[in-house]
Amino acid sequence: MRVLSGIQSSGKLHIGNYFGAIAQFLELQHQAECFIFIADLHALTTLRDGDKLRGLTRDVALDYLALGLDPSKVALFRQSDIPEVTELLWILLSVTPMGLLERAVSYKDKLAHGISADAGLFTYPVLMAADILAYDSDEVPVGKDQIQHLEMARDIAIKLNAAFDPKYLHRLNEATAAAKAKGAAEHVSAPGLLKLPRARIQESRAVVPGLDGQKMSKSYGNTIDLFADDASTKKRIMSIKTDSTPVEAPKDPNATPVHALLKLFASVEEMAEIDRTFREGGKGYGHYKQRLAELFFEKFGEARKNRLELEKDPEKVERVLRDGAERARAAAAPVMERVRRAVGLR
Ligand code: ADP
Ligand code: TRP
Repeated sequence: MRVLSGIQSSGKLHIGNYFGAIAQFLELQHQAECFIFIADLHALTTLRDGDKLRGLTRDVALDYLALGLDPSKVALFRQSDIPEVTELLWILLSVTPMGLLERAVSYKDKLAHGISADAGLFTYPVLMAADILAYDSDEVPVGKDQIQHLEMARDIAIKLNAAFDPKYLHRLNEATAAAKAKGAAEHVSAPGLLKLPRARIQESRAVVPGLDGQKMSKSYGNTIDLFADDASTKKRIMSIKTDSTPVEAPKDPNATPVHALLKLFASVEEMAEIDRTFREGGKGYGHYKQRLAELFFEKFGEARKNRLELEKDPEKVERVLRDGAERARAAAAPVMERVRRAVGLR
């Protein structure tokens, strides 16, 4: 089984990214053939600073390695190092209906946040489809916000498969009917030019709240970054929003994100104790924040040390990315050969 996922290099990684996405990749690397890439082409839709993009792309690679991604197991690469992906993008664009893209929630969302309506932003899901389809990926682990993009990748693959093979839709319909009869209508596929991918959504992974209680996100400025320096990390944790409940009074776990954040780090026993003192009162919010900071440094201390070491050897990161790109291109080559022949480019 081939698992593929990407993460945009549009900002520093935070604990929401870790618990929502990266932890899953670290587990999967022991179970499947993994391709993980840094989506620097996608980052171009929002970032207009060459030095910054170069730096962030390198930072994300360093972060992954420091957190324990094993480059002997996983092909870690830069999206822009794979020319096959942009070639496939054009072929997919030529069969993608405008109406399909107009329905994209993330596009409307980004416009609502003031990002300008460029063709790149509009066709973002087609580039994502090319990322996935170029390697015959089976599974794509993503957060819930990406489900629609995965469905679009399947729809676009079906469009191309059907456009160049008059019998494809018939096969797919038959497979769908057979699956429905068995009560399993999701993720149906039929033999065709491009393999239809499946989303892998970890329902159990809750959304990590930020300092202010909203979803933790780079774009909201409410993050606890994985690799900021010690002093500013502590300062961020101490600034988590709380209400004015006095020390001795019982506290509502929903009144402050500190409770949900502690739950990500604390053992089951310790969390039971924290729940008890929240219910009974007697401990101030400062105490809980202090403990959260300790647990953060315990969990990420080793990765933070690793990262300082890795930073001293920039050539090593480059080597890893180059090697990852070679493996990714080797996987994309046969797929692209198939596609070029089918559409008449060879
Ligand atoms: P951001 O919102 O900070 O820009 P991205 O959209 O780049 O983050 O997300 C990268 C990955 O991290 C995605 O798989 C996403 O689902 C996951 N992720 C981001 N923020 C959170 C969060 N607060 N809780 C859980 N997962 C998150
Ligand atoms: N759009 C994804 C995100 O914002 C990143 C991404 C780009 C991706 N290409 C992908 C994820 C292909 C999975 C597969 O998180």
